[in-house]
Amino acid sequence: MNGIVLERERAQAADREEFRRAVLDGLSRRPRAIPAKFLYDARGSALFDEICDLPEYYLTRTETGILRARADDIAALSGPACGLVEFGAGSSVKSRLLLDAMDLAFYAPIDISREHLDASVARLRHDYRALPIVGICADYMALNALPDLPPASRRIGFFPGSSIGNLKPEEAVAFFRKAHALLGRDGALVLGVDLKKDSARLHAAYNDSAGVTAAFTLNLLRRMNRELQATFDLKAFAHEAFYNPDEGRIEIYFRSLCDQLVVVAGKTFSFLEGERVHTEYSYKYEETGLADLAGRGGFRVAHLWSDPERLFAVAYLTGR
Ligand code: AVJ
Repeated sequence: MNGIVLERERAQAADREEFRRAVLDGLSRRPRAIPAKFLYDARGSALFDEICDLPEYYLTRTETGILRARADDIAALSGPACGLVEFGAGSSVKSRLLLDAMDLAFYAPIDISREHLDASVARLRHDYRALPIVGICADYMALNALPDLPPASRRIGFFPGSSIGNLKPEEAVAFFRKAHALLGRDGALVLGVDLKKDSARLHAAYNDSAGVTAAFTLNLLRRMNRELQATFDLKAFAHEAFYNPDEGRIEIYFRSLCDQLVVVAGKTFSFLEGERVHTEYSYKYEETGLADLAGRGGFRVAHLWSDPERLFAVAYLTGR
């Protein structure tokens, strides 16, 4: 028998069981919530890629512009023969900007999706033949050590895309602590954060006119239908996203449009009209708040680069 196929099937079964548990747990709790990472099945990841190209979603193109302008600065600050460790998907244009500019001893992308990671590593190996690339399949929030990596002068972390925005402040501090431990004393972290701005602009970015963000949220219902034999009627729920200025975050939910019963993995859940299930936070930062959270996690903000409209920022954090 093919050991790789068996291993993949085992991993898939484990993923499905983790999803089942998280969903049953999240729907039984009040307020109801399902962790954001489950939005990214194959279809969810494709929808997220579409979000990144939306006219209202300024984040991706603004960050790419900042990185393009600052890649040489990042390379100079990082120095020769360093290792680049990326937290999250490693397939994007953004990583390539750093791979092109930096003097690297290795590149180690960490990604939770085996398929995504393997495909991305294969493409990068083809395009960067001389660069050692070590794909690490893991949930970076649950990762306590890195596998053996080629020697490097120091390790530079890369956490782009405002992914940190998904984390509550205490979780962000925990992430910084973890990154600090994995990268070592003289490590540094290149971090992309979305900035606070007028709420109309933020609202539009998460309520696009083409309805892609709504499809992204409601895809979670489809995923539950497919993987957990759930009976969600996608027309009976709606995407809801708004800016909460007191908490400095976008909050995203799916909301029931009527009183209804839904079966999920053999259990029945009742939803009242207007009742909602939380799926995501997207925290928006300002420099002082970032410095505070990073500081509690062992980093200081050595550089902070932004665009002329101050929509987004890329920070260069060093251990202190
Ligand atoms: C991937 C977490 C950065 O918060 O902007 C975009 C996810 N959700 N639109 C974000 C998201 C809906 C995105 N992050």
